Amino acid sequence: MKYQRIKSELYIKNREKFTSSMESNTLAVFNSNDIFPISADSTMPFEQHRDILHLTGVDQEESILVLFPDSSNPKHKEVLFLKETSELIAIWEGEKLDKKNAFEVSGIKTVYWLQDFPVIFKQMMSEADGIYLNTNEHLRAKTEVETREDRFIKKVKSDYPAHKTYKSAPIMHKIRSVKDPIEIELMQRACNITKAGINRLLKYIKPGVWEHHIEAELVHEFIMNSSKGFAYTPIIASGKNACVLHYIENNKECKDGDVILLDVGAEYANYASDLTRCIPVNGRFTDRQKEVYNAVLHVKKEAEKLLVPGVMMADYHKQVGHLMEEQLVNLKLISLDDIKNQNPDWPAYKKYFMHGTSHFIGLDTHDVGLWNEPIEAGMVFTCEPGIYIPEEGLGIRLEDDLVVQQSGSPFNLMSDIPLEVEEIEDAMNS
Ligand code: GLY
Ligand code: MN
Ligand code: MN
Repeated sequence: MKYQRIKSELYIKNREKFTSSMESNTLAVFNSNDIFPISADSTMPFEQHRDILHLTGVDQEESILVLFPDSSNPKHKEVLFLKETSELIAIWEGEKLDKKNAFEVSGIKTVYWLQDFPVIFKQMMSEADGIYLNTNEHLRAKTEVETREDRFIKKVKSDYPAHKTYKSAPIMHKIRSVKDPIEIELMQRACNITKAGINRLLKYIKPGVWEHHIEAELVHEFIMNSSKGFAYTPIIASGKNACVLHYIENNKECKDGDVILLDVGAEYANYASDLTRCIPVNGRFTDRQKEVYNAVLHVKKEAEKLLVPGVMMADYHKQVGHLMEEQLVNLKLISLDDIKNQNPDWPAYKKYFMHGTSHFIGLDTHDVGLWNEPIEAGMVFTCEPGIYIPEEGLGIRLEDDLVVQQSGSPFNLMSDIPLEVEEIEDAMNS
């Protein structure tokens, strides 16, 4: 781990939030992710399942958490099962959590080795009436890969058909959507690392650099600052590439006169930051580039003010659509007639702004959250309007990460990363 240990009080609180929503005499099980194979003996770097991480801080494969608040055995109210380690095993496998360290990380007193799971789990299930299973209910999740959670769910359903089953996902979405101050601090740190990367780039970018050189500069800065690297696959898109929303090739030369769209964010301690800035390759925007840039910036500033407690995300997105509509008319990209005759299911502004404005962010970049409940203080959202004009070889998106406050505008975790046209030009030319 490149990050400093996080206070176990965060995980103790998170488990209390989960268990307070459980039905009586039930247990809940959370599995870590697998280490994904490539081929031969190669594997992908490990990424912990965000739910077990949120509840324990255990950032290690082959780990299981069982919560059983009504267990008759006080030692079994919360239990961690971990891959066995010892001084001898550590010589081959590297440092893994021993029982003492696992307690220090998670605050969980009962830690068993994984091989004890079948017997102890059977004892617990014989006492419980039901079990919470952790399915992936993120609206945009699509994967053909069977996860450790999936395999566990199949086995439980086959071995214990008479038990009631419940969904962990809605509880996890609820408790993960409002961030603890400890989490906000970690997210601020991720944003600060991203800031260091952008400041480095403002001195580096000039005509003739390649998109992947920019990627390399960023990853150097991120890892030097104790991040594992990018929180998501970076988009470094110069000129017309910026109009491809999921452009990740990052393999073109940046040309004089083009703008580069940088959708890049560092992770820290598995927390994501998600930023977009648009930078003129030669250090100066043209008048037209400035005009489009400032239209997006206006929408962003106005949209941010709408991220306040009580607002529904669907209404927020509708209002941002109107803000964008107005700017696109000013830019002569759409007309009032286009708006009058538009298909309400695909309004005219969607031709140039075809994605959503905000998503939850946290342990996942597109974090789980309560999409159909009013916004609450402590939720963290991105705000990322954009205008994409392929016929002009220009795409502008601007994105910051914002913490909703009890009252007033949200707190911007990226407020000191250059954003105004003049700030960007000054930093590039100083
Ligand atoms: N970088 C992904 C997004 O902005 O949603
Ligand atoms: Mn985003
Ligand atoms: Mn982004």
